[in-house]
Amino acid sequence: MPGKGSEPTWQPEAACWPGLVPLLRWEASYNLGIPTLDQQHQALFACFNPLLEEINAGAPFRLGFVALLLDDLIAYADYHFEHETYLFVRHGYLGRNEHFGEHNSFLEMLMHLRHQLEHGRSKPELLEPLVRLLASWWLDHLTGQDRDYAEFLLAKGEQ
Ligand SMILES: [Fe+2]
Ligand SMILES: [Fe+2]
Repeated sequence: MPGKGSEPTWQPEAACWPGLVPLLRWEASYNLGIPTLDQQHQALFACFNPLLEEINAGAPFRLGFVALLLDDLIAYADYHFEHETYLFVRHGYLGRNEHFGEHNSFLEMLMHLRHQLEHGRSKPELLEPLVRLLASWWLDHLTGQDRDYAEFLLAKGEQ
């Protein structure tokens, strides 16, 4: 039994309360083995979690704060996609056009949500698409399309 004043061991993000979106935790299996890209993917996770925390807070969105978080996320995702694009073109990755399409759709969806936020859409209206984008789309992309190119780039000597 922990003594009074000891550190709580309960991790809020590990709980699966109804309506609470689990925060994203980096797992070793997400690594592609290309350190620059792995670092960028981890940095994107770091952009997602403050948004998920805001979603989990039982209060309306703090609009200015969420707008800033979305702006940062859009800017960083754009930078990361540019980097992947550079590597695909440099090494002649054949799946690049399809991959570019995925990146563009992610950015378009994010910018659409950013626009809706600016035009007064409330938290309940934005919640579902935002969670789908951060907690579902992104993990699918990272563990699917991004993993598809990793072997090709590693074979080309990218590190
Ligand atoms: Fe990526
Ligand atoms: Fe990608």
